[in-house]
Amino acid sequence: MDIAQVDTPALLLDLDMVERNLDAMAAQFDGGRVKLRPHAKTHKTATLARMQLDRGAVGICCAKLGEAEALADGGITGVLVTTEIVGEEKLRRLVALVPRAQPVIVLDDEQAARHISAAVAAAGIQIDVLIDIDVGQHRTGTAPGEPAVALGKAVAALPGLRLRGLQGYEGHVQHITGTDERRAATAAAMSLLCATADAFSVAGLATDIVTTGGTGSAVFAAGFDAITDVQPGSYVVMDSQYRDVQGVHFENALTVLATVLSVRDTWAVVDAGRKSLSNDGGPLCAIGVDADFRLAGDEHGKLLFAGTPAIALGATVQFVPSHCDTTINLYDEYVVHRNGTVVDRWPIVGRGRTR
Ligand SMILES: Cc1ncc(COP(=O)(O)O)c(C=O)c1O
Repeated sequence: MDIAQVDTPALLLDLDMVERNLDAMAAQFDGGRVKLRPHAKTHKTATLARMQLDRGAVGICCAKLGEAEALADGGITGVLVTTEIVGEEKLRRLVALVPRAQPVIVLDDEQAARHISAAVAAAGIQIDVLIDIDVGQHRTGTAPGEPAVALGKAVAALPGLRLRGLQGYEGHVQHITGTDERRAATAAAMSLLCATADAFSVAGLATDIVTTGGTGSAVFAAGFDAITDVQPGSYVVMDSQYRDVQGVHFENALTVLATVLSVRDTWAVVDAGRKSLSNDGGPLCAIGVDADFRLAGDEHGKLLFAGTPAIALGATVQFVPSHCDTTINLYDEYVVHRNGTVVDRWPIVGRGRTR
């Protein structure tokens, strides 16, 4: 089947481009001291996680326990859950997941650590944990330096928790456009993470995992001694948000396919609106169509032409998502193609697994 025959709206994945993106990122770390631990919060599939592991990744990250459960169902274990886990129901699910999938978790609070310790110790099991530190994004993470060391000591003393090291994600630097500015911002974040790792070593705390980095910063972060692995996610498929980030040369493998439903004097309407295309990463544009585009409701998008629309009713149009993670989360499956011929369909098992 040709992609023009696919029912719309549909999420298309160009497998040739995906493979080139996977190979290009893997090549940057091949044989090096710092390894890849790619983030599956972007693609949300065991299939792509397996392809990353087959290319040398030391492990996989995911954002939520629900994503780790979905990946475990697909045979991917040892996943690092990069968001703090809080709440009784989640602790119950965490305890159930440990024996079958050995997740690694992050902590930034002693009270939360005590709750998790009590839950896993009561079940007679152990879990690997990292101390999450704030390296400048000011989202989660305990303060670097002495506060992180104090939390590390408290965690190391709790039953059921096996301290393995640190996470410090510099999300605030990923989309800085200029290479020099992004490298400098990454260095500032890494100096906090590395100083904390040094303080951990002095205190006799584990630093076998010191993990950081995204698509925009992975290569820069890997230049710092204490770092063991990096967590890029978006590079697999990319999006328009990353398009202007200098030095990030991965291909846009992800598009949303829509059909023209209506053609009027100076505009045409397609069947993809807010339920099919996220625009939290910036404006959207149609590939090869000389028109501006804006979302025009939940089910509709509007192509605005300078004159009479140069597009026919029933034609299909592809859009590059502004933000890959949030767009993928809107779909149950990828329509996988090579050069426009559909070769497979992959369920997006982590879709909607936000708990
Ligand atoms: C903790 C963490 N690590 C890694 C990433 C991957 O970043 P990117 O998709 O920019 O490569 C993210 C993305 O939000 C993240 O939250």
